[in-house]
Amino acid sequence: MEKINKVRFKFNKIYYSLFKERFDKSINFDFPEGINRWDLIRKVIKTHNFKSYLEIGCDDDYSFKKIDVPEKIGVDPYSGGNFKGTSDQFFSQNKKKFDCIFIDGLHEYDQVCKDLENSLNCINEKGIIFLHDALPANVHQQAVPRYKVIWNGDVWKSIVNYRTRDDCDIVTCKIDHGVSIVRKIYNKDRLNISTKDFKSLKFKDFYNNYQKYLRVIEYDKILNYLEK
Ligand SMILES: C[S@@+](CC[C@H](N)C(=O)[O-])C[C@H]1O[C@@H](n2cnc3c(N)ncnc32)[C@H](O)[C@@H]1O
Repeated sequence: MEKINKVRFKFNKIYYSLFKERFDKSINFDFPEGINRWDLIRKVIKTHNFKSYLEIGCDDDYSFKKIDVPEKIGVDPYSGGNFKGTSDQFFSQNKKKFDCIFIDGLHEYDQVCKDLENSLNCINEKGIIFLHDALPANVHQQAVPRYKVIWNGDVWKSIVNYRTRDDCDIVTCKIDHGVSIVRKIYNKDRLNISTKDFKSLKFKDFYNNYQKYLRVIEYDKILNYLEK
């Protein structure tokens, strides 16, 4: 991961509360203990007999090293994986298709949208894309620019964007800071919201609407959902 700069974090925090948003309430997601992103990904890989895996953003390889498939690529400009570079650099030269893709790189709206669009272009038919950090508990954990060590960024806004489209069906599993699941199939529950300016949505909007925006479901309902 990139080095944490404490002075920069202080500046970003002041900037965010003065010019972006102040909101005191937080959400208690009550994520189940001991169920991590890799548990969900491994479970789906196993049940679907997936053979290839791409991870965007690997850090210490906590997830990457736990994935057991014949072909796997991990992309990170700083640490982990087996491709040293940004996701943009990877996708610009990539010609492969994957059964499973895990997006967990830079948690900022524009980059997540790019990563998701590029992933939709190289996912196999019936493949599945996962996105981490979809459920921030408070305004501080979702603020961009970042000022917290535990940080989800505004990944959720990208998911809201894609939830309004026809060409992918998305749910968000309530584990480990939220893991969204994206399939390239007709959207069976398209989100209707009044804005197209997803990036300008506020944490307050998320607080009031996250169930509907992200279509949140419990871990034990996932396999059932994926059968449909
Ligand atoms: C939250 S960590 C990933 C954690 C890992 N996926 C896991 O499950 O443990 C995010 C990683 O994204 C990497 N990253 C930042 N910008 C990126 C980019 N543009 N493309 C790919 N990775 C990026 C960071 O270096 C960092 O290691």
